[in-house]
Amino acid sequence: MSGNNSIPHGGRLIYRWQPDLAYKDVQHQVELDGMALSDLELIGIGAYSPLTGFMGQRDYESVIHQMRLENGLPWSIPITLPVSEEQAETLPLGEQVKLVKDGVVYGVLELTEKYVPDKEVEAENVFRTTEWAHPGVKKLYERGPVYLAGPITLVNRPRKDRFVEFYLDPAETRARFDELGWKTVVGFQTRNPVHRAHEYIQKTALEIVDGLFLNPLVGETKSDDIPADVRMESYQVLLKHYYPQDRVFLAVFPAAMRYAGPREAIFHALVRKNYGCTHFIVGRDHAGVGNYYGTYDAQRIFSHFEPEELGITPLFFEHSFYCNRCGNMASTKTCPHGNEDRVILSGTKVREMLRSGEKPPVTFSRPEVVEVLIRGMQKTPVTQS
Ligand code: ADX
Repeated sequence: MSGNNSIPHGGRLIYRWQPDLAYKDVQHQVELDGMALSDLELIGIGAYSPLTGFMGQRDYESVIHQMRLENGLPWSIPITLPVSEEQAETLPLGEQVKLVKDGVVYGVLELTEKYVPDKEVEAENVFRTTEWAHPGVKKLYERGPVYLAGPITLVNRPRKDRFVEFYLDPAETRARFDELGWKTVVGFQTRNPVHRAHEYIQKTALEIVDGLFLNPLVGETKSDDIPADVRMESYQVLLKHYYPQDRVFLAVFPAAMRYAGPREAIFHALVRKNYGCTHFIVGRDHAGVGNYYGTYDAQRIFSHFEPEELGITPLFFEHSFYCNRCGNMASTKTCPHGNEDRVILSGTKVREMLRSGEKPPVTFSRPEVVEVLIRGMQKTPVTQS
């Protein structure tokens, strides 16, 4: 075992990044969407260990119905490569297929299977709804009707224009945690700026582990979420002013958001285990959207598994906020007062405030963070998801 106490899911890190693979003679190719490209990279670098490629039908069905791979390992989100029927017909089984986006070849797939999923069954099981209004379900329905499967090789890395130093592979984050001497590391997933409530639960966790891995998701999100580059700037300013430098490590998670709530919480935890975390924070409505999931459903789902089969310890936090009467950050577990004393703002309200240049109170968000967000949001066009 390496210095830190985390073992990759399935026992070893997968690594399928091979930039010198000869693929010039490969005849077939498919165009990837943004989600498939990020999945390809994440499989290649081992973030999705033990996956070595896009899921075949038996793993897929098992994940949909049992939340496990066919071999029994917990896995909650299908990782699939959808294409159109016409495209699928042109691709012979047993052949190699180039995986392309905007004229660049990023990977090579050994095509072992093609199958037609029942998207409604997938939606109901993964998202607990079949409604188009759910952004993850909409995305699922809009993608192609045939899934391709097989092992992949990553041959090119998607280009990063900004924040290049924050893209690290799981092998690299693990090495960094070892260098830092962290035996226990808590992972924090976010698709939002880090406000006071997030800071509170991170620091509460930091009281009991060696280090915090702040691991914001920067792949595709809903169009009304705050853009990743604005968030990245806000994380850096926050860490600089308010965190002990030797106990926090920032790196990005280049995955697409699914908005699958409870199932995505399990997925997020397993992936952070691959990056070297021993603990993972799950707060209120983790990876939720609208009112599709109960506030603590993403915590309850962990009881579906034995702790040792997950191999990462979830740390659950109740809804947290600043309480004016307590005069400190608190949660529903520690504050006896009512909502009238608590500083609670919805994400939509905060985005509206930032866009119009209005500052949320210091009890909600750090002034240095607010300044970065206001500057960033005023440059960002208003869009609807
Ligand atoms: S997520 O979609 O990436 O989960 P978000 O960035 O809002 O969304 O949340 C990051 C983590 O912080 C999640 O574990 C979420 O449950 C938790 N969280 C967010 N806000 C609060 C809050 N006010 N109190 C407790 N936990 C919270």
